[in-house]
Amino acid sequence: MNTNSPSAKAEALIASLEQYGQGDYIGESISQLEHCLQAANQARDTGARDELVIAALLHDIGQIIPLESTKEVRMNLKESSENVGRVGHEAIGAAYLKSLGFSETVCRLVNSHVAAKRYLTAVNREYYDSLSSASQKSLAFQGGPFQGDELREFEEDPLKDEMVSMRLWDDRAKLVGIEATTPRAGAYLDMIVSHLS
Ligand SMILES: [Fe+2]
Repeated sequence: MNTNSPSAKAEALIASLEQYGQGDYIGESISQLEHCLQAANQARDTGARDELVIAALLHDIGQIIPLESTKEVRMNLKESSENVGRVGHEAIGAAYLKSLGFSETVCRLVNSHVAAKRYLTAVNREYYDSLSSASQKSLAFQGGPFQGDELREFEEDPLKDEMVSMRLWDDRAKLVGIEATTPRAGAYLDMIVSHLS
């Protein structure tokens, strides 16, 4: 079998999501896999385009797959980024997906967690208040709420609305006990295959 074909790549990705996503989602009572499935399902329920659904499903792939599989990706990031210490799982995930052939849009959406948070905390006080104290604290290290040029740039980004939606689905994808009504990862296989084709 050609391991580089779209279907082989998609199947391997779904399999690693299922295999390695069993660990706890940091600080929550659901697994990382359930968290990803809930995010993707919210995207699908709103009728989002495929690239957004795929990004929601794979948004945390950078912290799910074993570090071993991202070794090359991380080495490249080190070479291309001055800011190695701050490269988080979003950037690793985006670079990993890029290496598999996912579109620029999917990769940018996956990489947008922090930017969307910095945007939402800048324009929505209630959003800021809704963050856990850990998340409020990490915001400071992430650069704080967007201001000035950064804020304007984000606002003008054609993907702005989708980045914000992703962030909100991500924040809400923490419900316990809804496995039975949440589609499994395999439900997205065909979508990923046609995206990669
Ligand atoms: Fe997440």
